[in-house]
Amino acid sequence: MESGFSPCYFVIFGATGNLATDKLLPALYHLERAERIGEDMRFIAISRRPWSQDDWQQHMKIVLEERVAERFDVQAYERFAKRFEYVSGDHTDPVAYQSLMEVLSRPRSGTCENIVFYLAIKPTDFLSVVSQLHQAGFSGKFARHRIVVEKPFGEDIESAQALNRRLHEHFSEDQIYRIDHYLGKETVQNLLVFRFANTLIEPIWNRHYIDHVQITVAEDKGIGSRAGYFDKTGVLRDMLQNHLMQLLTVVAMEPPAVLDADALRDEKVKVLRSIRPIPMGGVKAFALRAQYTAGTINGQPVPGYQDEADVAKHSTTETYIAAKFYVDNWRWRGVPFYLRTGKRLPQQMSAISIRFRHPPQQLFRETPLENIEPNWIVLSIQPDECVRMEIHAKQPGLGMNTRMIDLVASYREAHEIALDAYETLLLDVIEGDRSLFIRFDEVEWAWRVVDPILRHLSQDTDYIHSYAAGSWGPEESTRLFDNDEHDWRNSV
Ligand code: BG6
Repeated sequence: MESGFSPCYFVIFGATGNLATDKLLPALYHLERAERIGEDMRFIAISRRPWSQDDWQQHMKIVLEERVAERFDVQAYERFAKRFEYVSGDHTDPVAYQSLMEVLSRPRSGTCENIVFYLAIKPTDFLSVVSQLHQAGFSGKFARHRIVVEKPFGEDIESAQALNRRLHEHFSEDQIYRIDHYLGKETVQNLLVFRFANTLIEPIWNRHYIDHVQITVAEDKGIGSRAGYFDKTGVLRDMLQNHLMQLLTVVAMEPPAVLDADALRDEKVKVLRSIRPIPMGGVKAFALRAQYTAGTINGQPVPGYQDEADVAKHSTTETYIAAKFYVDNWRWRGVPFYLRTGKRLPQQMSAISIRFRHPPQQLFRETPLENIEPNWIVLSIQPDECVRMEIHAKQPGLGMNTRMIDLVASYREAHEIALDAYETLLLDVIEGDRSLFIRFDEVEWAWRVVDPILRHLSQDTDYIHSYAAGSWGPEESTRLFDNDEHDWRNSV
């Protein structure tokens, strides 16, 4: 790390919103507790609420006591709380920037050249904040300020390009951190190690051995209080275009020449560019969207999407999407990648499941092993972080009977603490490491890949499939499968 590169201020726009409350404050607190935050660093929390410093402190304490539970440490909390200043203001209003400027201009020891601006706000407000920051004098090609932009970056390819152009008017590429927190998850980083540090895996990681790949990000939660954002966005833009596409690229990429930010991202872009374009007239064979109706989750009745607070009447926003992609290159040609994600599914379960082909020789024909099940490797992302391999072994005894045995390895020892993806990524922002952040061409290509689905959905707004909350999604999603042997894997 360059000396003096560490920021002196970390400004959070949208400090009382869901993202800041659920992810940013707990992650920053954990970094404080781990003593990874420089002594000089100050946090500025900006939000519309007309709060005093005391109100903010009280709010933050409640948030952290609840979110970090047994890892709450009074001394670390006090250190952390002292770093904060609350600025009440509307981030779309220039007055807020004057107040911000007042706080930033207060005398403090040492010079301060680096400020992180974290936009934990609605994507539709990104541009307004960027222009206001510029007018208030916080941008400039030579400045070392950093701006962190959450996903979705744009709402389609054109708007993403426009947003990028506008960002570049005021900030250079190395000041822009486009975040996709799935890249900070342990299993996702581990996938690189698993693939490229084990000679045993890489030779079979291709179309000769792999029959298909499934990527599932299932959530049991609904949309909470986020209808304002979600009803205009839907899971295709909220999850598939970014989190699931990123997982696909890490599964499918070639080994980079070196492990630096650009080499890694070059390989990910190559995967996106190799994805076979979905034909406009045939989208139904490649994607299916649905919305949840009332149902039961963990024994509790839950309302349907249309009855959630602030959802538009007769909304056809999708809360579930399943899609199929082919990566047309030497490694993957012909292997379907089935992706699905949904809200109000029976449980939280995110995993990458790799199904292998049947053995080429039917050696066990006419024995009880005739219909031998294929092997799987499952990389579980959450709730548990582990890798599981399913292989056949003979059952002890006289007959030729077999059973599937599981080789399961947890990535973490019992005494090792689970990190949240945001801890890793916020530390990277602070230290100026952009490897796990998204380059614009990745965003652009990911939009290009889903563009036919987006267009099709925008023309087909009258009907949406449904599924009961607490089920694994609509029956019709099986129509995406290439053959009758394929089916969703609902467990790790
Ligand atoms: C966010 C989406 O990016 O990811 C949310 O906006 C979603 O809708 C969340 O719930 C899921 O993240 P995680 O880390 O809980 O799987």
